[in-house]
Amino acid sequence: MMSILMTLVQTAARFMPDAKRDPLIDSHGYVGKPLDRVDGHLKVTGGARFAAEYALDDMVYAEPVFSTISKGKVRRLDTSVAKRCPGVIAVLTPHDMPRLKAPTLVDFSKLDKIAASNLPVFQDDRVYWNGQAVALVVAETHEQAQEAATKVHVEYDIEDSNVSFDANKARATMPKDVLGEPPEIKIGDAEKNLAAAPVRVDAVYRSPYYSHSAIEPHATIAVWEGDDKITVFDSTQFVEGYRNSLAHVFGIKPENIRVLAPFVGGGFGGKAGFWWNTVLAVAAAKIVKRPVKFALSREGVFRIVGGRTIAEQRVAIGATVDGHVQSLIHTGVTATPSHARYAEQCTFPTRHLYATDALHIAQYVVDLDMVANTWMRAPGESIGTFAVESALDELAVELRMDPIDLRRNVEPKRDPTKDNEFSSRHLLEAYERGAAKFGWAARNPQPRSQRDGSWLIGQGVATAYYPVLRLPGAARVRVNADGIATIHTAANEMGMGVATSQLQHAADRLGVPLQCIEFNYGDSEMPSSPMAGGSCQTVSIVASVRAAVEKLHRELLKLEQQDPASPLKRAKYDDIVARDRGLFLASEPSRGATYVDILRRAGKQHVEAEGTSAMPMEMMKYSMASYGAQFCEVRVNDITGEVRIARWLGSFDCGTVLNPKTAMSQLRGGIIMGIGMALTEEVLVDDRSGRIMNASLAEYHVPVNLDVPHIDILFNDIPDPHTPLGAHGIGEIGITGVAAAIANAVYNATGKRIRSLPITLDKLL
Ligand code: MOS
Repeated sequence: MMSILMTLVQTAARFMPDAKRDPLIDSHGYVGKPLDRVDGHLKVTGGARFAAEYALDDMVYAEPVFSTISKGKVRRLDTSVAKRCPGVIAVLTPHDMPRLKAPTLVDFSKLDKIAASNLPVFQDDRVYWNGQAVALVVAETHEQAQEAATKVHVEYDIEDSNVSFDANKARATMPKDVLGEPPEIKIGDAEKNLAAAPVRVDAVYRSPYYSHSAIEPHATIAVWEGDDKITVFDSTQFVEGYRNSLAHVFGIKPENIRVLAPFVGGGFGGKAGFWWNTVLAVAAAKIVKRPVKFALSREGVFRIVGGRTIAEQRVAIGATVDGHVQSLIHTGVTATPSHARYAEQCTFPTRHLYATDALHIAQYVVDLDMVANTWMRAPGESIGTFAVESALDELAVELRMDPIDLRRNVEPKRDPTKDNEFSSRHLLEAYERGAAKFGWAARNPQPRSQRDGSWLIGQGVATAYYPVLRLPGAARVRVNADGIATIHTAANEMGMGVATSQLQHAADRLGVPLQCIEFNYGDSEMPSSPMAGGSCQTVSIVASVRAAVEKLHRELLKLEQQDPASPLKRAKYDDIVARDRGLFLASEPSRGATYVDILRRAGKQHVEAEGTSAMPMEMMKYSMASYGAQFCEVRVNDITGEVRIARWLGSFDCGTVLNPKTAMSQLRGGIIMGIGMALTEEVLVDDRSGRIMNASLAEYHVPVNLDVPHIDILFNDIPDPHTPLGAHGIGEIGITGVAAAIANAVYNATGKRIRSLPITLDKLL
C-alpha cells in the first residue's frame, strides 16, 4: 500500500514545476567562506558542556549490570549484597520499574519516534542479547555505583540462541522493504547476460560488525519535576525524536518533556536511535526522586548501543571487451534482530551509479539474537561501495582498462533504476580534477611494480556516493530593536559545525553581519528540526530558516509600508533584497530601510516569524546524490603484510560548499573513519555466547594520528539548482568508497585482492 502511494507521489512529482531557484545560490557573501567555527574556542577550552558534564544539585549516578547470556530468562537476581554497598541508593530490576510502553521503531513516513529496538525496557525477566542491561545500580557517586554493580548476582535459564552470522545466513529472508525502497529490483535478465558476457567478475565481499566509537560515550542526566515533567540532558543527535520517544514510553505529554543537547561529541548515527540508557536514566530518576546521571562506559556503549551490521555481499558484473556493462548484480545479506528489523541498505549505491543493460539488486536479512544494529555513518553506502567499487576495479583489471576510463564508460545519462533526471551529477569532473592533482596518470597498473625496500606501493581509486536528503522543519527568526537577530531551531550539533554554517547562511539571508546573529539549537522546545542524520540537517535547516526569513521580511515590509514616506511604500515582496542590515529595492539599491529604522518607526521592540519548509518534492522528482572520487596510495610491507596509508585525496561533487573549512573537516573525518573500517575496526563476537569480546578501544582499533596521512580535499563546488543554496549534505559521503579505494590500492601494490574487511596483515601473508 505504502509503495503504491509512494509510486503515485513520485510520478506526480515528476510533473511538478521546480521550486524557485534560491537567489542566494548566485550571491557571494558569507556562504562559501572558510570561517573558523564559532564554537571552536568553547570546545577546545572545555567551555562547551556535554551531556555528562552538567552537575545538578543532589545528583546521583547509575551503573548497569550486563547480561552474560544472549537469550533466556533471569531466574534469580540477588541484589542484597549490592544494596548494602557504601553509597547505594537503589538497585533497579524489572520488579521495581514503573510500567512502561515499549519504544516505537523508527517510521520513515513520520520520523517522530525513533527507537533502534522495540523491546520493552526492564518490563520482564527476558534476555534478548548478551550485554543487555538486567539491573541498574544507583549510588551517591559513580565509583560506588560501579563497585556495587559488580556485586549483583544473576542466575539465568539459558535458551538456544542464534548469534553466528555464518551459521545462520542461509536462512536469511527478504525484508518487506529497505528504508521504504523495494528490497529487489530486476531490469532485464542479469544472470543470463552475465553468463553470456565475454568478461566477468563475480565475487563475495565481507565486512564485519562495526561500532561507532564516538569520542563522547552516550550519557543522560534526567530530572523529574513532580510526576509529569521531565528534563533530560542527553548526548542525542535528535532532541525532538528523543522527546517524542520518551513521551510515548513514559505516557507523558511531549510538551512536558524537555530534551537538551547543546553539544554532542560525535554520533555517526549511534545517537539518533533511542536506546535503553536514556529510558533507564529517566526511570531511575523517577524512582529515586533525584537527578540521575547515567554515563555509559566505553564498554557500556559496545554492549547497549548497536553498530553497523556484519554483511556479506555478492557483486557480479558482465561486460564486453571494450567495457560496456551488460549485467550488474548486487545482492547482500545483513543481520538484524527481530526487535530492530533494520535491513542496512547496502545495495543503494548500485541502484543509482552505473549504466548497465541488465540489473539485479536483492537484499536479505537474517535475524540474530544480538543488540539492535543501527545506522552508522553512510549506513549501506559505506559497505555497499566497498563491494561494488571493489568489483568495478576487478573488472578494470580483467579488461586491462584504467579504472577511471571504465567509470567514463558506465556513466549513466539518467538514474538507472528510477529512470529520472539527475538534479546535479558531475562525478566524472570530480574524477578528472582528482586524477590531475593526485598524479594518477603516473600510476603503473601492473601489480607489484612499485617498491621501496620491503614496501610495495600501490594506488587505488573508488567512487564515493551518498544520496541528498532533505526533511521539512521549522525555524523562528526574530530581529530586535537593537539590530540583533536570533534564530531558534531544535537542531543538533555533534561536531559538524552546524552553528557556523547556519550563521553564514542566516547572515546572507538577512543581510546583516555575522556578529549580529545568535543561532540557538539543541533544545526540544525550539521549533521542530530534523535529526542530524542522513546528511540532511544542513540543507533542511537552510530551508526552514529561509521560510522563516521570508515571513519575517513580509511582516517587516508591511510595517514599513505603514509609513507613507517610506521609499518601500509601493514595493512588493519580490522587489526587495535584504542587505546592509535592512530591506532595499532590488532595482534601486540606495532606497530602503534598515531593520532598526523599521522597528523604531513602528514602535516595536522586535518582530518575529516562524516558518516551516516545504515537503521535499525535489527528492521525488530528481535522482539526487553527492558523488566523489577517492584516491589512495598505500604501502604494504612485503615481509609483515602491514598496510600503511601513504597519501589520500578525496575529490567531491557535493553542490555548493557552505564553508570549505568545516566541510573539509567533515570529509576528512569520514575518510579517517573509512580507514578504520578498511584496516583495523572489527567487533569480535564469540560465536558460542554472543559476547562481544573486544568491548574497548584498546582492542577495537580506531585510527590514530599515525595511521592517517595528510588528506587533500577538492570540491567541484557546482551548485545543485534544486537544493537550498545549491548545497548537499556532506556528513556521510566521506566514508564511502574509502574501503574500496584501499583494497584496490592494496591489489595494485601486492597483486592480492582482499575481499574481506578489515584488511589485516594475516590476510596479506
Ligand atoms: Mo547518520 S548514520 O544518518 O547519523
